[in-house]
Amino acid sequence: MTIVPLGEHIGAEVRDVDAGSPHAEETFAELRRALYRHSVLVFHDQDISDEQQVAFTRGFGRLQMTIASDPYGGGGPINRIANVDEEGRLIPPRDKRSLYQAGNNLWHSDGSFKSVPLKASMLSAKVVPPRGGETEYASLRAAYATLPESRKVQLEGLVAEHSMAYSRSQIAPGLMTEAFLKATPPVRHMLVRTVPETGEKALYVGSYASHVIGWDIEKGRALLEELLEWSTQPQFVYRHRWKANDLVMWDNRTCLHRGRPWDNGVYKRIMHRTTLAGDGPTVP
Ligand code: OGA
Ligand code: MN
Repeated sequence: MTIVPLGEHIGAEVRDVDAGSPHAEETFAELRRALYRHSVLVFHDQDISDEQQVAFTRGFGRLQMTIASDPYGGGGPINRIANVDEEGRLIPPRDKRSLYQAGNNLWHSDGSFKSVPLKASMLSAKVVPPRGGETEYASLRAAYATLPESRKVQLEGLVAEHSMAYSRSQIAPGLMTEAFLKATPPVRHMLVRTVPETGEKALYVGSYASHVIGWDIEKGRALLEELLEWSTQPQFVYRHRWKANDLVMWDNRTCLHRGRPWDNGVYKRIMHRTTLAGDGPTVP
């Protein structure tokens, strides 16, 4: 395989790997190293089935099933991120289902609303719009590494509260089903986490992070907003412009991502996502 970096801080294209075929453990070991090193891996021309995507994901580690009450996962291995219903009809942009998915357009790390967040995610593009609908990725390692020393000292040991409810409250109230809210109570995460495989530190912020534990709510929120703004500066960001059959994998511990808008009342966009389970809680 060949690994071609896409930017200074984040992203690499992987060539000569067929995601639809089985691979030796050494190949997955090399791919894992590339994922930890670059945070985002891009594979082009991967016309794969859901079963092949699940098998390829499993090669990286332990597969994480979706939450049973998740309207787009239903407890299975595939999360369908799409603006069409089961019959392939466009879902109107003002529909509750579209608004729910609009949460993906806020900077986030998948599963940070859970006490054991998702380690990595893999997205397969089935149908993409002719323009817009990109996904952006921001390096939380570069964001941490470039902080002033005094800031790093200040952040040491801080814990933030993350919740699904806080993320979706930024879109519209009443978006979440009672069942899904019940299944996703607020959780706590370290504001700075260390990635065990590399020893590198990363900021852990995003739209689910609502305040800092033990701090005045507004003061903590202001800090989180400032750090989010810092982390998503253009020099830390890779923007992926999708082609059908692109497969993109990212390390949720070291990058944030967000979807970008497109003319979703006119064009279809259908993505299938699989995820890797996290290794444990971020708080001791
Ligand atoms: C996701 C996600 C954004 C997008 O799949 O986890 O946030 O651009 N996707 O589809
Ligand atoms: Mn996401």
